[in-house]
Amino acid sequence: MKVIGVYSVKGGVGKSTTAVNLAWEAAKDHRVLLWDLDPQAAATYLLEVKPKLKGGAESLVGGKGKPKTSKAVRKTAFDRLDVLPGDESYRDLEVALDAAKHSNRRLEKVLGPLSSDYDVVILDCPPGSSLLAQAVIRASDLVVLPVVPSPLSARSLQQVRDVISAEPKPPKILGFLSMADRRKTAHRNAIAYFPATEPEMTDIVIPATVVVERMGSERSPLGVLAPRSVAAQESSRLWAAAWDAVSPRRRKGKK
Ligand SMILES: Nc1ncnc2c1ncn2[C@@H]1O[C@H](COP(=O)(O)OP(=O)(O)OP(=O)(O)O)[C@@H](O)[C@H]1O
Ligand SMILES: [Mg+2]
Repeated sequence: MKVIGVYSVKGGVGKSTTAVNLAWEAAKDHRVLLWDLDPQAAATYLLEVKPKLKGGAESLVGGKGKPKTSKAVRKTAFDRLDVLPGDESYRDLEVALDAAKHSNRRLEKVLGPLSSDYDVVILDCPPGSSLLAQAVIRASDLVVLPVVPSPLSARSLQQVRDVISAEPKPPKILGFLSMADRRKTAHRNAIAYFPATEPEMTDIVIPATVVVERMGSERSPLGVLAPRSVAAQESSRLWAAAWDAVSPRRRKGKK
């Protein structure tokens, strides 16, 4: 089972959108669980799952004893794609994690019982560098990082690097440009600059487009509502790059 965290210190950069599209792409070939760790539950909403976590986040992540993970999992309309729903109770999770021993290993403990049920777990993380973010990074084999090509984006990339490199075993970062608008000079410059100069940045560019916004009104992944759009095709490339980075076949070949 490979764990991919979609993470940024910055809010509103396309993390939940990316988590849903990656999960849908991954589920074409693999058994996938999308774990929505955000009290806003955007990814849960986009996949038309009820934002209600049985027992609440604290009993699942912060609690003592064995987490009853499989009871909290919900099916989606798509084959091989399940969701561990987001829920209001994630708002209080930080306090529970603060009180818990080994708080940054809590997610791994929750996922443990599912390791033979899923090939891929996608984590949709709220923004920030909280204990939850640390736990996400700790549990992840790969961190997928959306970067909006604004003048501050180089700074957010460095902030994510700093958070991740503080980990004893830092996961690899796979960065891509999100919400890119080629009509803007700053965005065009970033599209040319980032892949050429920043080792974590791929040349994958998800454009800022109404097609992505429609995901919210139609509650569907991009690959369902606009499979031929550039955004859907770039999402598909992003999944291919993510799987390439974590797949066991590749790892063996590398050694
Ligand atoms: N490529 C895009 N083009 C246009 N709109 C987009 C694009 N990507 C995301 N959006 C929109 O931007 C908003 C924020 O996206 P999203 O919720 O995925 O970001 P986020 O990083 O998860 O936010 P948060 O930090 O609040 O969790 C949403 O309304 C979404 O529909
Ligand atoms: Mg989000």
